[in-house]
Amino acid sequence: MSIALKSVWKIFTETKVQVEALKDVDLRVETGEFVVVLGPSGSGKSTLLNVTGGLDTVSEGEIRIDEDILTSYGEKELLKFRRERLGFVFQQYHLLSTLNVAENVETGAYGVKNPYESGEALRMVGLNGYEKKYPFELSGGEQQRVSIARALVKKPSILFCDEPTGALDEKTGKAILSLLTKLHKELSTTVVLVTHNAGIAQIADRIVRMNSGRIVEDSINKQKVSPDEIAWH
Ligand SMILES: Nc1ncnc2c1ncn2[C@@H]1O[C@H](COP(=O)(O)OP(=O)(O)OP(=O)(O)O)[C@@H](O)[C@H]1O
Ligand SMILES: [Mg+2]
Repeated sequence: MSIALKSVWKIFTETKVQVEALKDVDLRVETGEFVVVLGPSGSGKSTLLNVTGGLDTVSEGEIRIDEDILTSYGEKELLKFRRERLGFVFQQYHLLSTLNVAENVETGAYGVKNPYESGEALRMVGLNGYEKKYPFELSGGEQQRVSIARALVKKPSILFCDEPTGALDEKTGKAILSLLTKLHKELSTTVVLVTHNAGIAQIADRIVRMNSGRIVEDSINKQKVSPDEIAWH
């Protein structure tokens, strides 16, 4: 699915000082693209991802995902759209500690018409046989794989990843990126990944740079490399 942001502003007003986290942002992501959004801490990357994925609302502007205008949706419609169509992976895996691995993955299929079986999703992330284990029995990299399986189980049109390797060491982080690129290729899912790690941008089809709430550069990556070749920061 393609994404289009038109003149998007996000201003946080709950705080003492107003924060303009997104300032007049325009962005297009084409169906099947792998886009990395790069920028320093506080530049608005997570805010961009959250409003694009319908986890937060905009202050002004329009967000379309294909023909759906997210910014015209009410809370319930947005929740339904997000739950059925969009997958999310975060730095912290947000697994439920009282559920086993298969059950955690199944939470991602809630309300979805034709999801994968949890075992199938686990096979796709290289964790077959892990169904009955609990999160505390897994390494960070394995927990992140479970969270990716949970995002994938619904066959999402877009996968949003916010610093998916932020809590992992280089080797494990690169393995997770290899998995994401493999899944992107096999499933033709659109991927939007945000990170402050400049090395990661090298695996993208397109690199979007942010600074102080604005997109300051948007370019095709002509020298795409595989995750094991990137310089880690
Ligand atoms: N819920 C919120 N309330 C108030 N201000 C917020 C909120 N969320 C983010 N901000 C502010 O908006 C700006 C952008 O934050 P955001 O989290 O999008 O940055 P980021 O690029 O993801 O940073 P990091 O790399 O540290 O994750 C920052 O100044 C931040 O303090
Ligand atoms: Mg962030």
